[in-house]
Amino acid sequence: MRVFDSPHQLKEAVNKAKKRQNECSVGFVPTMGALHQGHIELIRKAREQNDIVVVSIFVNPTQFLKNEDLEKYPNKMEADKKICEVSGVDFLFCPTAKEMYEKDEIRIHAPNIRGYILEGTSRPGHFNGVLSVVMKLFHIVTPVNAYFGKKDAQQLFLISLMVKQMFMDVNIIAVETKRDSDGLALSSRNSYLDQFERKQALKVSESLRKASNLVASGTLYVSEIHKEMLLILEPLEIAYIAFVDREFHALEKIELKNSIILVEVLVGTTRLLDNIWL
Ligand code: PAF
Repeated sequence: MRVFDSPHQLKEAVNKAKKRQNECSVGFVPTMGALHQGHIELIRKAREQNDIVVVSIFVNPTQFLKNEDLEKYPNKMEADKKICEVSGVDFLFCPTAKEMYEKDEIRIHAPNIRGYILEGTSRPGHFNGVLSVVMKLFHIVTPVNAYFGKKDAQQLFLISLMVKQMFMDVNIIAVETKRDSDGLALSSRNSYLDQFERKQALKVSESLRKASNLVASGTLYVSEIHKEMLLILEPLEIAYIAFVDREFHALEKIELKNSIILVEVLVGTTRLLDNIWL
């Protein structure tokens, strides 16, 4: 595995590798580090489906709001490098903010409606930062396939929309959410939770399981499912419980194979997201 911090050097190395292996495909897994089984699954898929695998680790400052503590984001660089090495990553890209951004920058703006609901309401401007950095990373890495977790469903949708609307040649591959054996969706932020908070956090996946069971037994009206989910989630600080179709338009009634139920809660000071695709 070769490690790069310079965007230009990585680009050159990818281009050389592409030239060496005719028609080779590049699979890309963008991350902010603190890698867990969820990321490992993305890398595994990328390894399985591509000739060259590139992973980036970059805690992107432009997707953090002013009041959010970017400095406290977990940093496990040495462990992350080992994980990438044993997972068969070819190129690991770990740039600094200085290498990625200039002072006066062109920025991508998330769409006015679907970029500013749900996570975009809780964190206004967050998706502008995500889309801007993903656009840059795609131009540096030039992947054929890029892998994102379904857990960040709105991010996944907006990146797919950007690729479509900007006529970019990247396939966005959605990968299932990985969970601990107790149901908690894996997230780098779980490391912030103490024992009590972790127990509370389980209510999120419990509420989604309840919703899924209700739908399976024929309850499709959002108002009824919402009521039942609230009973489970009530002790927590709920940012939102939302019911959308796969294009992130609000739903009144679940459309089978075209719906996502999303939850965001605050447990202590930790923001937790989870969802279920129905
Ligand atoms: O999901 C993440 O880890 C980040 O938002 C991403 C896609 C790597 C962009 O910084």
